[in-house]
Amino acid sequence: MKAKILQALRETDGYVSGQQLCEQFQVSRTAVWKAINQLREMGYDIDSVSNKGYCIRSAPDLLNKNELMSLRKTAWIGQRLECFDVIGSTNTTAMQMAEEGAPNGTLVVADRQDSGKGRRGRGWVMPAGIAIAMSIVIKPEELQPGNAPMLTLVSALAVVRAIEEQTGLQPGIKWPNDIVINGKKVCGMLTEMSTQIDYINHIVVGIGINVHNEQFPEELSDRATSLYLESGKHYSRAALVEAVCEYFEHYYEIFMRTQDLSGLKTEYDSFLVNKDRQVRILDPLGEYEGTALGITLRGELLVETPEGVRTVDSGEVSVRGIYGYV
Ligand code: BTN
Repeated sequence: MKAKILQALRETDGYVSGQQLCEQFQVSRTAVWKAINQLREMGYDIDSVSNKGYCIRSAPDLLNKNELMSLRKTAWIGQRLECFDVIGSTNTTAMQMAEEGAPNGTLVVADRQDSGKGRRGRGWVMPAGIAIAMSIVIKPEELQPGNAPMLTLVSALAVVRAIEEQTGLQPGIKWPNDIVINGKKVCGMLTEMSTQIDYINHIVVGIGINVHNEQFPEELSDRATSLYLESGKHYSRAALVEAVCEYFEHYYEIFMRTQDLSGLKTEYDSFLVNKDRQVRILDPLGEYEGTALGITLRGELLVETPEGVRTVDSGEVSVRGIYGYV
């Protein structure tokens, strides 16, 4: 009910009458009034004028079900939505839920993450109220397991577009899927998958975005940033989550048409911060340097070296700029 009222207020320029809300949701005036008061207690600034009705002036930055559902415009992501004040890891919970039958598009979001997982066994911990931890369950009917790693690049494109749209900042992608602003990482992603030999049971795309962080631990401060640190502004985390999901649906559909990146390569390359720059490839079989040229249709990075162009697969290696993180 609160989410529906919020949605109605958000979708209207100006005031919505109490009568209209009663009729639309088939509830009494008292029920509407109570819901409005509860929303005010949660921090929503809702103006009321007799004979005109209610108008929303501002919303608090809450990452909860009411807020997310009132903004939801996606077709399939978030149809089932699970929000947590505190969680161990949204990816771990999403993987468990997927195993227990949660449908395609299930979205798990948390305000605080105590034992979040990063790539290569690292952690991704998030205090309350500061950042976004979200995981999307995907149960693709048709996707070949060998093509699934490309989803990581699809997610990167969705996040970079969402950040651009919501903040006006100019994020880029450090191959394969770190999102960076001014050379520092603002978002990391971890894609996990449960498969049989030739069949995907489910995939979980986990996304962590630094939003309001004012500082980072010293060991991270030269390579981590937040949307706040880059702009001096605070953004709605719920609106960012919704934008990521909308863009993800868009790019996922394009990807699934061909199960490769032919429909997305040009756009992806246009955000690639490594492009035409010197990179060091941290390959366990031997490090080397070269110039990053862009991605292949399968999402590998093409690197020009004195010995010729090499194709780098994200599963095996890390890429660094030769003068720093990017
Ligand atoms: C990286 O190392 O760059 C990947 C970080 C991924 C963090 C996100 S936060 C939401 C989701 N849940 C997790 O436990 N990890 C991912």
